[in-house]
Amino acid sequence: MEIKVVENYQQMSLKAADIVADQVNQKKDSVLGLATGSTPEGMYARLVEMYRVKMIDFASVVTFNLDEYTALSPKHPQSYHCYMNRHLFDHINIKPENTHIPHGNNEQDISEICREYDYKIFSMGGIDLQILGIGVNGHIGFNEPGQYLQTRTHLVELAEETIEANSRFFSSPEEVPRRAITMGMGSIMHAKKIILLASGESKAPVIQKSVSGRISTDIPASLLQLHRDIVLIVDKQAVSLL
Ligand code: GLP
Repeated sequence: MEIKVVENYQQMSLKAADIVADQVNQKKDSVLGLATGSTPEGMYARLVEMYRVKMIDFASVVTFNLDEYTALSPKHPQSYHCYMNRHLFDHINIKPENTHIPHGNNEQDISEICREYDYKIFSMGGIDLQILGIGVNGHIGFNEPGQYLQTRTHLVELAEETIEANSRFFSSPEEVPRRAITMGMGSIMHAKKIILLASGESKAPVIQKSVSGRISTDIPASLLQLHRDIVLIVDKQAVSLL
């Protein structure tokens, strides 16, 4: 596990965008695993700038998002579908049919949707570069802490800390969806390369636990220590407890 410490959020975003651009420039039809949340917003903004000055071309790129709330319509402004359109897809030349975000409401459909999602990732040859943020409780995607972690894409009940943390995007905590579909730990760990971004003091305790040399399902991100090609791009505040 490589840890690159940068000065601030801006530097983290630029560094991450450079890694994505290098990946896509080396392999035009790269399969990217994408994350949402406030952390990667700066990286997406930089990728849009790079696209405008022809430093990156998304024409053949394929994407798979990590997760999505189940009870929200993809048209809801806080859905991850809208997030991706707003921050990236609407501004670049990616083909809509090459973008994938899990979506489903009805429980029976969901298990089928999850199976198909994993199959699609597999049939595209797996994820070349996975971008991750990290929840304050150590979740990645929506793989929440618990006794067990799941390997495959699945339906998840969100942890209280996650609902609370994400309530800043909604007008009240009651509005935050309680469930989501997320890629499992296996899909993430099978990515050929991973970059995990973290910025700010609020992430310092969880970054400390995630790189401690110990692995626990209570800190899902700690499993990433077993990945062969992972880079943490973190600002000084996020590593203030290391
Ligand atoms: C969300 C997402 C994660 C994200 C995390 C951190 O709930 N499901 O993919 O990494 O929480 O979000 P933020 O970057 O806003 O701190």
